[in-house]
Amino acid sequence: MRSINKGNEKDEIRINAYQLFTKLAPSVFGAAPFALIIAALISILQSVFWVLETMAQHKFFDAATSLTTGKIAFRIVIFYLCILALANIGCQVLNGVINYIFNVLIEKITGKLSLNIHQKIARLSPIDFENTKKLDDINKAINGKNNAVLFTLLVASIFTFYIPYFFFMGWYLFSLKPILVQSIILVFIPTAATQLIRSRIFTKMEDKSGPVRRECEYYENCMVSREYFKETRLLGGFYFFKKQFIDTLKLLQNLRFRATMKTNLIELTMRIVTVCGYYGILYMLFEALMNREITVGAFAAVFNSIGSLYGIMEEIICRNLGSMAQNLGTVQNYLKLLEMPEREGVHYDIPKNFDIVLDKVSFSYPGSSKEAIKNVSFTIHHGETLAVVGENGSGKSTMIRLITGLCTPTKGSVSFGGIDTKKLSMKSLFSKTSAVFQKYQRYQMKLCENIGISNVERNIDKDLLDDACIKSGLNQEDSSFTNGYETMLSREFDGVDLSGGQWQRIAIARGFYRDHELIILDEPTAAIDPYEETRIYNKFAEISKDKTAIIVTHRLGSVKLADRIIVMKEGRIAQIGTHEELIQTEGEYSKLYEAQEQWYREVLV
Ligand SMILES: Nc1ncnc2c1ncn2[C@@H]1O[C@H](COP(=O)(O)OP(=O)(O)OP(=O)(O)O)[C@@H](O)[C@H]1O
Ligand SMILES: [Mg+2]
Repeated sequence: MRSINKGNEKDEIRINAYQLFTKLAPSVFGAAPFALIIAALISILQSVFWVLETMAQHKFFDAATSLTTGKIAFRIVIFYLCILALANIGCQVLNGVINYIFNVLIEKITGKLSLNIHQKIARLSPIDFENTKKLDDINKAINGKNNAVLFTLLVASIFTFYIPYFFFMGWYLFSLKPILVQSIILVFIPTAATQLIRSRIFTKMEDKSGPVRRECEYYENCMVSREYFKETRLLGGFYFFKKQFIDTLKLLQNLRFRATMKTNLIELTMRIVTVCGYYGILYMLFEALMNREITVGAFAAVFNSIGSLYGIMEEIICRNLGSMAQNLGTVQNYLKLLEMPEREGVHYDIPKNFDIVLDKVSFSYPGSSKEAIKNVSFTIHHGETLAVVGENGSGKSTMIRLITGLCTPTKGSVSFGGIDTKKLSMKSLFSKTSAVFQKYQRYQMKLCENIGISNVERNIDKDLLDDACIKSGLNQEDSSFTNGYETMLSREFDGVDLSGGQWQRIAIARGFYRDHELIILDEPTAAIDPYEETRIYNKFAEISKDKTAIIVTHRLGSVKLADRIIVMKEGRIAQIGTHEELIQTEGEYSKLYEAQEQWYREVLV
């Protein structure tokens, strides 16, 4: 279970920091163009002030030295001191302003990138969510989003602060002694090389740790979430998940520890080189002072600023670029998600009375060689009520996914009103369909929102809500709903929780609330007793008279009302016909019906 995905490492296309930046820049810039321009201008101004401060120190120290020898007047020293103080205040003010703007920018841009992710996920094919590799990529992209923001802002500050600062500072040092500039650049190189290596090591680590992290998070969820707690406590699963959680956590920590160890060793070596360079430069400065190539003021100012120059180098290269290099892999995952192929298709107004034609349809889930549906062909006529029955795993839900267009066939075709579902956009495809799935959702929202969410384009309509509730047998005046339609259905948000059957009725009401020409109930009635299920299905058939309706169920008592019944077996259609036809034919259906009829007689009657 805990295997690490090594298979696809070689297929990954790596892109460098420059390519990452050019791809990210448009969405980042679009999120807050005005604030970014202001931030860039202030950053440049800040770099100028930092150099001005060093130059002011130079002048002040020279003036102070001259004062001791009586060459200049005291007021000139005070004048230079005031300039120095102004430069210093300027630096501090600009620093505060830029920090504030950056905090605002991070909020704004993170919001924008989150939105990009959500929009992208909405455009992905639903089948991508059945693919573990793609799920991993989505998970990694969400982690990478925050780093993408930091990365872009860091690159932007390199261009608007660090590079101008080094340029102005270099120019100043060059005017003092040209060799100073070259030696600074030479010291810079080993540190930059370290970060390149670090980036590669951490990108590889991120690829390996993605699937493990997903497992680890899943085990944690199994231990702590309310959804699992009854079962995990009572059946003892808690300790199993705890062990799995600890194992995966250790594996994650181990991966990170190994990567950190490697990079720290390399970094240590390079830092020693850098420190030697630092003292080399100080020695050169001292020599220049002794040879009277520079003044005492220049020596003091450069001596002072060389410390902050190295501080900045440390900050930009070791801290910022370092952590960035470490996270570049996750930033890449964010872009990888944005570049994932989307479900394509054109918009088409499907006619109201459309037939659905399945032609030699076969389907395998991603990563599975087994066909869940095998060469299935039939037509669902508009207005027909179809029931699908069959044993567990026979392919009923998969066929429903193919009929709705949630999945597209691996072989053959499914068409809506003559148009292949592969060619239709998801919006047109789902525009006339409503469904209640086997695994329906329990939204932690108000009752009216839980039902109304299936038709968000329309404002919540009380009459329609009532209608949907009547059809699904949900009594909103029941004492469980303390505040009627406004009752909050969530214990987490100070609301109420409901029984499984009540939740199922809400899910069914949600299905009815949506405007539809095709409606599907894929066994949403397991928690509802057989009598009530039959009542719901009868109601369903009655109200779906002029609509196409598909019912999936195991309880054959509910399917008599269908115009036709399909019996599935091992991914194929074993039988198809009306209840009367099937009951008279020896086969799967009559066997199942007899068994259930006997059960109804013995147990229920
Ligand atoms: N997401 C998935 N990924 C891979 N295989 C799947 C997936 N979902 C279902 N299958 C496989 O497809 C086959 C058909 O499953 P399906 O859910 O369609 O059966 P079903 O008839 O609806 O069963 P049930 O009565 O239990 O709901 C099964 O063998 C199952 O293992
Ligand atoms: Mg099913």
